[in-house]
Amino acid sequence: MTSKEQEGALWGGRFKEGMDPAMVPLNLSLAEDQRLWRHDLQGSRAWARALARAEVLDDDELQGLLEGLDRVEARLARGIPEDAPDEDIHSLVERLLGEEAGEVAGKLHTGRSRNDQVATDMRLWGMEALDQVEDRLTGVLQALLAMAERSVELVIPGYTHLQQGQPVRAAHWTLSHFWPLVRDRDRIRQARRAAAVLPLGSGALAGCPFPVDREYLARELGFREVSDNSMDAVSDRDWMADGLYAGAMIGIHLSRLGEDLVLFASREFGLLRVPDGFSTGSSLMPQKRNPDVAELIRGKAGRFSGNLVALLTLLKGLPTGYNRDLQEDKRLLFDTVDQLELVLPAVAGTLKGCRWRPERARELLSEELLATDLADYLVRRGVPFRTSHEVVGRLVSLAEDEGMPLSRLPLERYREVHPAFEADVKEVFRWEASVESRAARGGTARSAVEAQLEKARRQAG
Ligand code: ARG
Repeated sequence: MTSKEQEGALWGGRFKEGMDPAMVPLNLSLAEDQRLWRHDLQGSRAWARALARAEVLDDDELQGLLEGLDRVEARLARGIPEDAPDEDIHSLVERLLGEEAGEVAGKLHTGRSRNDQVATDMRLWGMEALDQVEDRLTGVLQALLAMAERSVELVIPGYTHLQQGQPVRAAHWTLSHFWPLVRDRDRIRQARRAAAVLPLGSGALAGCPFPVDREYLARELGFREVSDNSMDAVSDRDWMADGLYAGAMIGIHLSRLGEDLVLFASREFGLLRVPDGFSTGSSLMPQKRNPDVAELIRGKAGRFSGNLVALLTLLKGLPTGYNRDLQEDKRLLFDTVDQLELVLPAVAGTLKGCRWRPERARELLSEELLATDLADYLVRRGVPFRTSHEVVGRLVSLAEDEGMPLSRLPLERYREVHPAFEADVKEVFRWEASVESRAARGGTARSAVEAQLEKARRQAG
């Protein structure tokens, strides 16, 4: 053991030579895993207590360790030393504990391995982080709900293939972005649940030779159950994949919302105004008001998906048990959570400030949006839908040839194309009538949208 980097290492005994300088930076993970320090201390305190309960430590030793851990906590709370030579956060905590508690520090690692330790720390960190993400998502849901509540009256074009399709209430569009995020929140909760299985007590791979009470450890640390197989426990990162998948889906859903906002905020659509506080100008074009928030959010989607793919690729084909490759898992989860922390409050803020432009919605609504209603008119008079579809198609083409809107085409022309048309056909040409006709659950009628809002309120509360 010669190199400086190995002086504090936890495993020097069997080595004759020091670590090659080219290996040192590759081996280090402290810069990334230092944010686990509180969780590492939390796990260590519980472990010390479990060892005492198993009579591996006596009362004085336990006391010495707990007080030492408190002092380590006080030191780390002042900041992680920048010149710390330690390989990772576990080594750093153990070294500092040695400084603070003396020889007894050497007893804390009894029956424990960094393999079950790091798996435990990450789960502790992950459970907190996923709770936080859940709260942030609820914030976005509340903002979407509030926006929907003030969008019930307004009718806007609904699109398929980005072509005008049928009119919808603006609230209906807004809530169409609400439900995907409710599903994402379920996915986050599921990941949180999967994280809450305790690996501590699995040792390096084969379990713990001392009679520690793992149920006690689980209770102490807030896990809902204890892992069943030590070899699985030290390498199980499924919960993390669940979390990254949930993050990727949030990214995808928000990127679609972002895309709608970019389009709707353009002069060409002009349907809504993204608030000043979330827009930026151009360094060259003085008139510009860019919906950057929506683009930045859309741009994050690749990163979220990338983190998921990176983890899946990392896990694939690993031999049973812990492998050092797993050290790479941390930055993926950290990054997804950090980025969600940036993105979700910005989305919520944007939605709070978004204003519809009803006058522009009027201008955009093309009468052709009512072609389906016209076909339904005939259906109500007994005409088979396939025939009425064809008939209305002919009318649309006729109106186009004559350069006039459908509603202005004289009744005789309607009746030439199909005799079932009567004078009341003109009543089809009311936006309100169109959205109101879709009263089946999940549709655009006021009653259906109100029912949807009612359900959404319960989710966002
Ligand atoms: N820094 C390591 C990690 O993040 C801790 C576990 C190290 N275990 C080991 N056997 N080298 O995965």
